[in-house]
Amino acid sequence: MTVKVTVTGAAGQIGYALLFRVASGQLLGADTPVKLSLLEIPQAVKAAEGTAMELDDCAFPLLRGIEISDDPARAFDGANVALLVGARPRTKGMERGDLLEANGGIFGPQGRAINDNAADDIRVLVVGNPANTNALIARSAAPDVPAERFTAMTRLDHNRALSQLAGKLSVPVTEISKMTIWGNHSATQYPDLFHTEVGGKVAAELVEEEWLRDTFIPTVAKRGAAIIEARGASSAASAANAAIDHVHDWVNGTPEGDWTSAAVPSDGSYGVPEGLISSFPVVSRNGRWEIVQGLEIDAFSRERIDASVGELVEERDAVKALGLI
Ligand code: NAI
Repeated sequence: MTVKVTVTGAAGQIGYALLFRVASGQLLGADTPVKLSLLEIPQAVKAAEGTAMELDDCAFPLLRGIEISDDPARAFDGANVALLVGARPRTKGMERGDLLEANGGIFGPQGRAINDNAADDIRVLVVGNPANTNALIARSAAPDVPAERFTAMTRLDHNRALSQLAGKLSVPVTEISKMTIWGNHSATQYPDLFHTEVGGKVAAELVEEEWLRDTFIPTVAKRGAAIIEARGASSAASAANAAIDHVHDWVNGTPEGDWTSAAVPSDGSYGVPEGLISSFPVVSRNGRWEIVQGLEIDAFSRERIDASVGELVEERDAVKALGLI
């Protein structure tokens, strides 16, 4: 069956890095034909048309059609997968309340359009920042869609953490399993090495405490800013790659004996208030994310998880006060 994938912000830089990989079969697998639906704001529709021309020019065997629209109801009509990339960036002098309100104006209507038009099996990944809270806004505008179908992306942080640790220990990333990012996709996120395994050993025991605390955690958490500083533009190809990884694993399952990180609606696990869209260690089984249970959380980790979850609570309370959820 052909799967309809709707990508918002399709003319942006992540969109440009993402669409070709979706069309080539990397999102869902080499047996699944895809139809792309590109949602943009009116001013960017022409640029999206240009990207669609290039998609045509790739003659991808799995690509069964491209639609372009500035109308969410049309763009999400019959969608099976929604990648919500387009968002309102923070501009100079913008307060957090303004940022949340501007994004509420995007993710509220998109959530409603998903609720009213998407296919019954719709799966939503929010990439546009503030991703966790934007996902919360979209979810609360979509009461007919099961809450668990709304997720936000922390897979880029997860992949960054894998790569930093692999570099430190001079091992291939394939030697590392059970990495976890907890909390918000922001500088408060907590990359946890206390359950991560490297060749059967616990990663936190293979590195100096000082490196873990003063180098690893801040490097992963502030990597986005470091990329902007170096590249003069924010992460795009790596963000698109992480979106591919997230949806691929959601649909096809995570490997046996390993887990990954995704921001999913909390069921109260690990003291994270129910309903918050927070990053957890997760496995995917039968097309559903499940939060890995029973991990022991030491005091060092507890403090950091609580700080990041506290930030999510503040964001939730702010959007509630603005009437966005
Ligand atoms: P960009 O500015 O290049 O592209 C954004 C696109 O979204 C633009 O083409 C814009 O016209 C479009 N857009 C804005 N409002 C829209 C709406 N209401 N409907 C449809 N399209 C709309 O930005 P880029 O670099 O592609 O990043 C997109 C978002 O992803 C940003 O919010 C960024 O902060 C976020 N991001 C998230 C990451 C994560 O790990 N969760 C990593 C990197 C970026």
